[in-house]
Amino acid sequence: RHYTTVMGIETSCDDTGVAIVDDQGRLLGDALQSQSSIHKPLGWGIHPVTAAQLHERNIHAVVQSALHKSNLKIEDIHTIATTVGPGLAFSLNVGLDYSKKLLQQHNKRFIAVHHMAAHALTVRMLNPIEFPYLVLLVSGGHCILAVVNGPCEFYRLGSTLDDAPGEVFDKVARTLELHTHPEVGDIAGGRAIEIVAKLGDEKAFKLPHIMAGVRNCNFSFAGFKSAVNAHLKRVSFASLSDWDQQKMTIAANMAASFQYYLTWHIAKRVRRALVFCKTFNPKCRTLVISGGVACNNYIRNELDKCATAFGFQLACPPPYLCTDNGIMIAWAGVEHLKSNTATILNPQSVIYQPK
Ligand code: KG4
Ligand code: ZN
Repeated sequence: RHYTTVMGIETSCDDTGVAIVDDQGRLLGDALQSQSSIHKPLGWGIHPVTAAQLHERNIHAVVQSALHKSNLKIEDIHTIATTVGPGLAFSLNVGLDYSKKLLQQHNKRFIAVHHMAAHALTVRMLNPIEFPYLVLLVSGGHCILAVVNGPCEFYRLGSTLDDAPGEVFDKVARTLELHTHPEVGDIAGGRAIEIVAKLGDEKAFKLPHIMAGVRNCNFSFAGFKSAVNAHLKRVSFASLSDWDQQKMTIAANMAASFQYYLTWHIAKRVRRALVFCKTFNPKCRTLVISGGVACNNYIRNELDKCATAFGFQLACPPPYLCTDNGIMIAWAGVEHLKSNTATILNPQSVIYQPK
């Protein structure tokens, strides 16, 4: 039999990701070019124009590398699936323009993929999880709790009212100067916090229990930044120059406390969503977490406890599928093709419009 092959192209933020997946969910080849080492001198911040230029510079090689690894030629690809949003407009356009070129030169179908839908669906590439399920998407740009009823059917229960959790992880990592920390200096943002937190005491600093009395499933993370800053000001963290024992201890304690309170907040909102599902959607028995922040094992463990307490299974894609990648975009394309929910657009008419 002839398998349908889908090439996924992801350029929404700072990772150029391309992958080829077949309709059985087999990964045929993938390539990922991360820009993080280039953004490191900025304390891991991303400059949108630089990000787009780097996508521009890398995308052809990344596509060729994915093809090479799969032993396929561009002619063997049936469908191109490309992220069309949400994300950085300049970056998204690089992926979209490249897709348009491919489609002009070769006769293929095109599927527009929603980045967050792709994060929510990836888990099904490896695990046979049926709809509906509850999903928590936690990344550098988003925080969403939703019931996934189908590849294109999402019922949103809540989302962040201000910052995304990954953004706050990244900011706190920068304030704690972890990009110069002798042990984790080459590891970015949230991952650095997770590692340093293991050495600290999570009760050392008291942070607020944000929205503790608010009876919905929304999130708020901005308050953590100001609370962390206030504590660090009090102990004059910014004036400590060397990574001596004192600075190490403060950073570890703050990383641990921050991670504890942020996880407490997420877990509280997730428990409300679990109550909602148990009451109104009894078929929903799985909690899926995805997005870059879902790589965090401390958060995974806490959410596993929440899920178990409500008789739910916790499912998380492996870390390489949680952070941005081309595989999840290709897989979302496969899901759309299989369920006939594909938005098969003329790519010439797709223009990304930031909200
Ligand atoms: O999904 P993703 O790759 O890109 C977006 O769409 O945002 O997520 C990146 C985010 C970054 O903010 C990064 O700091 C965070 O995921 N992240 C983590 C961990 N690994 C990545 N946050 C907490 N703990 C981690 N282990
Ligand atoms: Zn993402």
